[in-house]
Amino acid sequence: MDSWDQASSATYLEQHMCNWVTRKFGMEQYGDATFTSGGTQSNQMALLLARDAMIYRFSGHRVQKDGLPDYFNKLRIVCSETSHFTVKKAAGQMGLGENAVCTVAARHNGTIKIKALKKTLDSLLDQGLIPFALVGTAGTTDHGAIDALPEMADLAQRYGLWFHIDAAYGSGLKLSPYAERLDGIERADSVTVDFHKLFYQPISCGALLVKDKDNFRFLLHRADYLNRDTDTLPNLVDKSLSTTRRFDALKLFMTLRTLGEQGLGGMIGHTVELAKEAADQVARHTSLSLLSEPQLSTVLFRLILPGLNEEQQDAFHRRIRHELLVNGIAVLGETVIKGRVSLKLTILNPLLTAENIQNLFSSITEYAGIIQSEYSVAV
Ligand SMILES: Cc1ncc(COP(=O)(O)O)c(C=O)c1O
Repeated sequence: MDSWDQASSATYLEQHMCNWVTRKFGMEQYGDATFTSGGTQSNQMALLLARDAMIYRFSGHRVQKDGLPDYFNKLRIVCSETSHFTVKKAAGQMGLGENAVCTVAARHNGTIKIKALKKTLDSLLDQGLIPFALVGTAGTTDHGAIDALPEMADLAQRYGLWFHIDAAYGSGLKLSPYAERLDGIERADSVTVDFHKLFYQPISCGALLVKDKDNFRFLLHRADYLNRDTDTLPNLVDKSLSTTRRFDALKLFMTLRTLGEQGLGGMIGHTVELAKEAADQVARHTSLSLLSEPQLSTVLFRLILPGLNEEQQDAFHRRIRHELLVNGIAVLGETVIKGRVSLKLTILNPLLTAENIQNLFSSITEYAGIIQSEYSVAV
């Protein structure tokens, strides 16, 4: 998947899928996409393009040729405290350092606090720093939270920032009956889409979309043997971090041919509805506590454990997750929310039913009872 002459039909089909996804996300006018190995590479690529495009805009400096400019240590990327860790990782790899990422507090439901975001941007400018990129998330890993994308787009416009949206997890909503939850995504300068998450593709399969395809020039490198300036047929290596790549677009093409957009969207919609159902079951449950209303297909919850201190409660949650795993009941996620170990359902299987969820919660109660009796003996 590098040059036309080595992979002509694959190039043709991948570009066809790039055009499809660009259209789906409302960026067909000037936009384009490229296939990536997943969210990590898409985020890294987006921030790299943002860095080089913005530095070129600020000072005409070409990072690709001349390296970072002398003001590089003033550059800042702004995102939420709930953004994916790969934003920081990318900043480190790009020579800006992880400390160039300023995180803004999130609301209870995991979405960025817009007022705090504005304050952060003002404060950075007051300190003589240079915020150049704003990262929103459509589907945070834990809460499945979708940031207020239109408000963030307004701020990005007002402060002259590159607006990147990490929709690795949430992008599948575009095909579902809940597509309006992504309203505003079309205003981003770049969008991370992961087909190996809600689009049900085998690993690996992701994409990066850019609103202005001209920005791919910051990645372009010519090689005499591969992608000459004089070539008239497209070489996908021109817009890729990798040189040789797998033909991952074929999987997506086949899935869409087999299921259709509606079929795929229906599967995604079902997981969203089931997450809501699971959250309602948690909310009604006398010994479970719901941590946040789901916006996507994850459900965060904790057990109510009177009589145990915080440390014991955290250990209890780790233990119950382990028991459910090794006894073949369920693979629950474990994460930390507001400093406390919490459990997470990440509902991806479109064949799951409300009854399956009910049975899971019964098992949780059953195992909790067994563990609790051990605790009361030990305490
Ligand atoms: C919101 C978000 N962004 C990025 C990533 C990284 O994606 P990948 O694992 O495809 O590299 C993840 C992974 O889980 C994610 O949840």
